[in-house]
Order: sequence, then structure tokens, then C-alpha cells
Amino acid sequence: MSDANRSRHGSSIGQPVTRRDGMQKVTGQARFAADNNPAGLLYAALATSKIALGRVAFLDVAAARAHPGVVEVMVQENRPALAQHPDDKSVPFSFKMDLLQDDRVRYAGQPIAVVIAETLEAATEGAALLAPRYEAEPVEVTLDAAGAYVPETVGVGAPAEMRHGDVEAGLGSAAFRIEATYETPLQFHNAMEPHAVVAAWDGDALSLDMPTQGLALTQMRLASLFGIRMQDIHIRTPFIGGGFGSKLLSGPQVLGILAARLVGRPVKLVLTRAQMYGPVSHRSPTRQTLRMGAAADGGLTAIHHHLRTATSRFDDFLEPSGGVSHSLYAAPAIATTTEAVRLDTGTPGFMRAPGEASGSIALESAMDEMAAACGMDPLEFRLRNYAEVEPVSGKPFSSKALRECYTEGAARFGWAGRPLEPRQMRDEDGMLVGWGLGTATFPAMMFQGEARAVLRRDGTGVMESGTHEMGQGAWTAFAQIAADSLGLSLDQLEFRAGNSDLPNAGIAGGSAHTATAGSAIHSAGGQAIERLTELAVADPRSPLFGAGNVGVVARDGRLVRRDDDSRSESYSDILGRAGLDMVEGRGSAAADPAVAERYAMHAHGAVFAEVKVDPDLGQIRVTRLVGAFAAGRIINPRLVRSQYYGGMIWGLSFALQERAAIDPRTGRVMNADLAEYHVPVNADVPSVEAILVAEEDPYVNALGVKGVGEIGITGTAGAIANAVWHATGVRVRHFPIALEDITGALEA
Ligand code: MOS
Repeated sequence: MSDANRSRHGSSIGQPVTRRDGMQKVTGQARFAADNNPAGLLYAALATSKIALGRVAFLDVAAARAHPGVVEVMVQENRPALAQHPDDKSVPFSFKMDLLQDDRVRYAGQPIAVVIAETLEAATEGAALLAPRYEAEPVEVTLDAAGAYVPETVGVGAPAEMRHGDVEAGLGSAAFRIEATYETPLQFHNAMEPHAVVAAWDGDALSLDMPTQGLALTQMRLASLFGIRMQDIHIRTPFIGGGFGSKLLSGPQVLGILAARLVGRPVKLVLTRAQMYGPVSHRSPTRQTLRMGAAADGGLTAIHHHLRTATSRFDDFLEPSGGVSHSLYAAPAIATTTEAVRLDTGTPGFMRAPGEASGSIALESAMDEMAAACGMDPLEFRLRNYAEVEPVSGKPFSSKALRECYTEGAARFGWAGRPLEPRQMRDEDGMLVGWGLGTATFPAMMFQGEARAVLRRDGTGVMESGTHEMGQGAWTAFAQIAADSLGLSLDQLEFRAGNSDLPNAGIAGGSAHTATAGSAIHSAGGQAIERLTELAVADPRSPLFGAGNVGVVARDGRLVRRDDDSRSESYSDILGRAGLDMVEGRGSAAADPAVAERYAMHAHGAVFAEVKVDPDLGQIRVTRLVGAFAAGRIINPRLVRSQYYGGMIWGLSFALQERAAIDPRTGRVMNADLAEYHVPVNADVPSVEAILVAEEDPYVNALGVKGVGEIGITGTAGAIANAVWHATGVRVRHFPIALEDITGALEA
């Protein structure tokens, strides 16, 4: 049976099914890691460093131990031994961790001790009683730090430098040129659920309730760290309260596991909000210089995207901001270059569209400046430079409906009639009104994943894959794919996920979870149906006997002869006659290197923003956001729209709100809480719309899906910055844009 047939008859994919876990979530029944309280549970609290560099000279462990309720204090001297050094990064996507291996402090907020007590209050009080003394050394925590170097790679192994064509010649021959530098800030992960773990040891077997975006990778790293077997590590992660790239295994979670080993009882450790601003990765600041040239007709002649960013003093991760310039606009010459500095901070890492988010702000702002320099409408300018093939590689796109995104988004937003010059529009209250545009883009990736399907004699089915429900609706979308693959309705299907004992679903990252685990599920279901088909077509007693050549389709719990709807048989009848309780199918999926060799694969979108700016106060309000996105096949339009909203709102946050203020003298984050680290609330987002633009992709994977999680943040921040310029005539090149940037410029 061909894939196309099965999906055509499937009825779940494409439906706006509500979240299967929705009722559990809204009634508070969904059990997150920290909601677990096994018998004999103790509570752990971290003590974290107040200095950013130096050593811990003294901890008053005796005072903490003497506190009523405190059971144990874990410090360097009594921390249980590990089989592997915490700096070992041999497991993919891992970072160096701080697990009390020595007395060094590498960044502010680094864990320096763990207090374990009968209550959370006692543990917290005990941690406060440690009253550390430090030997502090001078720190460097800003992008202006000395010692810039040219790294070899950015992101995960991407080249830090790329040259295509002759950029200097392109700039030299240009009729119009711009050069502009954009700065994006240090940002910290603020998922609603902080990192947490409830750990219990039974000999060398480890039981964990813990949020993770990568069950198998987490098992793998823990197995290496503790020198135990992967299959002896059981992780339950039914619900994750947001991950955004921060929730693979983090150091504090390992400290919770070490604490449980030390005391021989189950231990719960939950980070406080303030403790999120240090050991669980962040987005590093960037300074990006764009040099661009265009010919008299508006055709780009060159793009040079130079990045300066930072990693920690002791580990490597560089935000790959230049990548967007490789794929988005047609220019005969494109170069990206990188320089980096090492800072006395925690190590940056994956944070929602790492690279594309920060990079597209710079690129989309520069495109707007370039359009203005050419005297062209920003949309017309982007269409003039539309890439029909991926500019740097020359590969065709596996699919690309960006033109349709521009058209549908512009129509919905009402872009036509936008005045070319800035500061031309006011509303009835005298607010300056501006309209801006940004292109959204994100690569369509895939990792490795597996699934197992079962069709039972009672006509129901089971699909198992250790997938991750982070709030994005994975549980629902995967169940839809599973139901279709097995020819069942959703209520006939049991979907098992969120547990490391299930088949390895790969990671939920890179916006690739649906592509990866979805393809594995699709294939597992297909194999179960094939087994069932073999039973039926070989059996003279079946109405499907001999249908092997024309084939059958699976739907509504029956196999149906493809050329004759009237000849069909239920799964129950087939299994019953064969004397079987079930048939099983196994599926796996991985990126196909041959396809990646031939095609460039990206999702695209166009985001239109309207802002209103108070000419006296400089206050900026985003009054409308319209995004139109093309990301291949849509499994569930309700969930996908919700992903786009989330991304666009983060884009708004990036443009106008989010920024960690770090004290250059101490290296400490001064706004390590959700009162002063600003993120949007409902009142900041009066209107957001997402249009799902039709796109069929026959190459990207068996399901034809591209990721939708991260793309919304790209494009949006640039669109808002461009709208602010259009409203005010003020071009702000650092983010977030603050009201004083506007008032200062308007007065001048
Ligand atoms: Mo994402 S930054 O791969 O969760």
C-alpha cells in the first residue's frame, strides 16, 4: 500500500483537534515533574555563587547542617563520585556542567552547594546559612571584552565563515549601499516550569521525574556520568512546561540526582526563578554588521553579514546569526563572518530559533534600510530579490511558498497604500502609526526517531514513541498521525509517550519533532497494516484474498480492497481468524542525506506589523501582527496556529521587551525575575493573526511536514523594528527598542 493512499483516506491529519491533554491542563490534573512526591521524599535547595569568577574560600557547612530539618549538605568533599567528568561532551548536544567538581566559580549563579532537608523551607534556610566567602577575580561580561577570536564553527558545527561570490566587487559596483550595526541583548530562558527533578535510586537503577526535550539523550548522558546502564534509567516526562531549547539535561538536575544518591532517599530539586539566570543556558548578545549593495533597479549586488558574539570562558556555543543570510535573498555575492569573545557567564545555548531569531532581526532591518535607500516599498524590494534557488548553495528548494505568504499576508494586513516615506500616518488620537514587514525563515530539519505500533484483536490500536509534550501539542498531533497510519479514529487509538521506556523518539528540538517522530510513527503504523494485509490477502477465507496485487487501504478499522470498496474486512476479523491477539509494526525515521544533497529545505513566512508610537512619550504599542507561513503539510491547524502565535509574541518580546541587564562589575544579572525581565502579557498583544499558507513538499519527509515551532519568532522582531521606523522616522538598531530611543531622537 502506498503512503499516498493511506493518508488520503486518513481523517485525523489536517483536523483542528483540540489538545488531548487540554482537560488535564486546565483542571490542574496534568502532573509535571515537581508534582511528584514519592514516599520518604527530601527537598534540595541550591546555593549559588554571588561572584562570577574566582573560588569559594569558605562555606559554613556546620551552620547549615545544624539547622532543624536539614539532613545533609552536599559540597565538593562529600559529593558522590562520578564515572565521567562533567566537562565531557561526548554525548550529542551536551554542555559542560558544574557539579561541585572543584572550588572554582565560572559564572554568577553557578551552583556551589546543595542543602537537603525534610522540607523545602529548611533546605532553603540551610542554603542561606552557608554564607559563602569568595576570592573574586575581575570579570568580563560584555561584548566589548578583549581577546576576540575567529571561531571555526558556530551553532552545531556550522562554518563560522562562508564566502560566495565577490562581496567587495558587488559592493563596489552598487548604486546604493548601506552599512549598519545591530545589537541584540542577552536573554534568559523563562519557561513557565523551571528545571526540576525528582530522583530516586534503587541500587544502580535510577527513577526520575524530570522535564526533558530529549529522553534518550538524557539517559545516555546520565549513563555516562554515573557509569550505569541506559536501560536502568527510567525517566517520566509526561508534560513539560516549556523547553525552548533549555531542557536537555542541565547541571542542577544532575545535582538533584547526586543528592538523592548521597542521602539514599528520593530527592526533589526545583530551580527558583532567579536560579534560571545562570546554569541553564541563555541566548548570548550579538553585534551584527550588515553591509549591503543594490543596483539601480533594486537588485542586491552583495550581502556581508558579520557577527560578533560571545560564549563562556570554559565552553563553546556561538549563536549562528549569519545563517539566515545564506538562504533568504538572491544576491550574487554573500559572505558571513564571525568573531567571538569569551565571557565570565554561563554557557549560551539553544534558545528558540538560535541564530535565526537574532540574525533575522539584523537582516530584516537591513533589508528595510536598503529598500529605503533604493526608494522602494519593502515588500516590492523583497520580491525583487526573491531567491528562486538557495543563493549560496544553488540548490532548488524542496518547496517554497514564500511568494504566496507575502501575497496573502499583505492582503490580510492591508499593506497596499502604505506610504513610502516614514512618519506619514497618525490615528485619531494623534499617535504615529507605522507598518513594517519581516520575512520569516527556519530550516526544515530531521533527527532520528523510532516508534512501535500495535493493532489489537478488539479493533483498537496502540502507538508508542517517547515523544515530548512541551505544551506545543505534540501528544495530539502525534496521535493524529498515528490514527491515520493505522486506519483508526482517534478514540480507537491509545498513544503512549513521555517515557524513556518507550521507543526513542529523538529530541524535541530544531522544530523537528513532528518531522522526526511523526515520520517514525507513520512508518510503524504502515508496517502494522502491512502485516495485517499479508494475513488477509493470503487467506482464501478473507474477502481480500488475492488482493495482493491491487492492494488495500486501511480505514475505519478495516482493510478495503483498493479497486472495490465493497470488499473489505475488519481488523478484528482478520486477527481472529488468524488466531492472533495483535500484530505489531516498528518504524524509524531519519533525515535522508541524498535529499539534503539535492534540495534546500526551509519553512518560510511573512510577518506584517502595525505599531502606534506616542510622539510625546515614545511609548510603542504593537497594535496588529499578521503572519502568513508556509511549512509544508499541516497536521493540526489549531495547534500550528498556536505555535505561530507563540513565536510571533516572542518576536514582539525580542523587539520591545526582553533584555537581561548584567552588571559589568560583578557579572551578575540585575533583573533575574519576571518583574523586571520583561515579557509580553495579553495587554501587549491586542491582535495577532496567523495565516496557514498551502504548501506541498514531496521531498522533505514522508509526511511532507516542516517545523512550525521556531519560525514565528523570526521575521516578527524585524517587522516591528521596521514599523517603528515607519511610524517615527527613527531607526533604532539595538534591541529591545525602548521609549527613550524614540523620545531622544524625536527631540533631537
Ligand atoms: Mo529549540 S531552541 O531546538 O527547543
